[in-house]
Amino acid sequence: MKIQNKEYRTIWYEDDVVKIIDQTKLPHQFIIKDLKTVKDAIKAIKLMEVRGAPLIGGTAAYGIVLAIKENPNPKFIQKSAKELIQSRPTAINLKWAVDRIMKKLADLNNDKVLDIALNEAKEICDEDERFCKNIGINGLKIIEEIYKRKKNTVNILTHCNAGWLATINWGTATSPIYHAHKKGIPIHVWVDETRPRNQGANLTSYELNEEGINNTIIADNTGGILMQRGDVDMCIVGTDRTLSNGDVCNKIGTYLKALAAHDNSVPFYVALPSSTIDWDIKNAKDIPIEERNAEELSHVEGIDENNEIKKVLIYPIKSKAMNLAFDVTPAKYVTGLITEKGICEASTDGLKKIFK
Ligand code: MRU
Repeated sequence: MKIQNKEYRTIWYEDDVVKIIDQTKLPHQFIIKDLKTVKDAIKAIKLMEVRGAPLIGGTAAYGIVLAIKENPNPKFIQKSAKELIQSRPTAINLKWAVDRIMKKLADLNNDKVLDIALNEAKEICDEDERFCKNIGINGLKIIEEIYKRKKNTVNILTHCNAGWLATINWGTATSPIYHAHKKGIPIHVWVDETRPRNQGANLTSYELNEEGINNTIIADNTGGILMQRGDVDMCIVGTDRTLSNGDVCNKIGTYLKALAAHDNSVPFYVALPSSTIDWDIKNAKDIPIEERNAEELSHVEGIDENNEIKKVLIYPIKSKAMNLAFDVTPAKYVTGLITEKGICEASTDGLKKIFK
């Protein structure tokens, strides 16, 4: 997708290094950063310079490439694989991508390990781009139906950033929106600010602006009244881990939005590539929920009058704060899952029908 009219992907390999867009600096500064070692990749994931389930999967895959370049000793590669998987706990894509690439490298003493790893990392990213594009083509049908009925601007609410910045390209939740916009359907997006890190305000609104899509940032608690007023036609969100029963783990606050949507009969869709499906965990209570530093709540960042990024404390200095990063929306509140293979019911049967 575009930034200042130039097409980008969120991660790419060039001149023997991995290039990323540093998302901690957006929307105020656009900085392309080099990852040269596996430690750089782990740090970028932990600090959320790259974030979003599919993108951290792609970064972990390139992390293995960087590890091999540094030291092709099998023990070092295996240790790096473990550290990459542990760099963030909730999104299943990290483990999915690392396991996939390590399986390809079955014989770690093979002198072609670097080429094999590089090809697989590229394929993981190319595949994500194809899958996200298909999510858009499939999700477009839902938006088209609403537009046919309403004959007026379709209002879509989204939470966090499940946009192209969270994937390799297109996004998951935003892909149907981009496809509808390209078809000329008038769209307006309600963007949840998404405290504490403001991925909605800083990233979703930013990328929609760059693509010329009408959007309005709202405080996270505003969605409910907008739904009661009939100002939301549908919700689309992303997911970091989708269980085989259709339960969906996504950015903290997603569950409350799903409850409000259910109470107001607003369709609530979740968009995902199959790489975020966890076929093993059966009970949502077993999903590891990331708890991040409370400083993300107690401090906010922005630019000052000299265009410099500043961080300020906004809480009483003695107060404690708790920063759970994800919650789980039970399948019963999900209208449907929009995947690269089609739209299905959020249930074991629904998922089985399209992913045999
Ligand atoms: O903590 P983040 O910013 O990595 O969380 C991202 C989300 O919750 C996204 O909705 C999810 O990863 C889906 S991305 C297509």
